Amino acid sequence: MADPGRHVLVVHASAHGSTAEVAERIAARLRTVSVVVDVRPAGPDLDLDVDLDRFDAFVLGSAVHDMAWLPEARDLAGRLAPALRGRPVWLFSVAGIDPRGRIRGWMARQEVARVASGLPRELRPRDHRLFGGVVRMDGVPLWGRVFYLLARQRAGDHRDWAAIEAWADGIAAALPSATATPRP
Ligand SMILES: Cc1cc2nc3c(=O)[nH]c(=O)nc-3n(C[C@H](O)[C@H](O)[C@H](O)COP(=O)(O)O)c2cc1C
Repeated sequence: MADPGRHVLVVHASAHGSTAEVAERIAARLRTVSVVVDVRPAGPDLDLDVDLDRFDAFVLGSAVHDMAWLPEARDLAGRLAPALRGRPVWLFSVAGIDPRGRIRGWMARQEVARVASGLPRELRPRDHRLFGGVVRMDGVPLWGRVFYLLARQRAGDHRDWAAIEAWADGIAAALPSATATPRP
């Protein structure tokens, strides 16, 4: 049986799979400390009205396209926001910018602010973290190539798994302790 307070829903939206893998890694990390985790892709068939009360905390993440979350993630955030008021929520974005480094770190903060401006105001996350994703140059429009040039961002996999796991550890630490420690 799940420990009270330690059942987490992780929902992700991913166009090419890198965000889904980040979500799975967050879930795997949480499970190492006895958190029960459901991972689901965002989409219209996610019937959250029925399920929400089963969860104690929520992690929502999306790939960033054109400076915004993917439409299914924005739609889901809009549907969820009223029900999540006052409940623990963490957001993550997976983007072309690898936030490691001073300039890219600054760009990542700007990107988080732009992404957040497209999400419902009532969604008040405990944190919204941007992780570097997988940069592909094929199919990227000219403005995107200029953006990557300015950011000195090369093609390739920029996911910082240590940072992703450390972030998941922070979420676990914010949940009630597992029953491994005896309760009074
Ligand atoms: C069409 C398109 C638009 C993108 N727009 C942005 C953007 O505005 N800002 C950014 O930082 N990264 C942008 N990216 C990079 C993606 O966020 C990055 O590749 C991410 O890893 C994609 O996640 P996914 O594999 O889950 O789809 C874009 C990628 C594509 C394909």
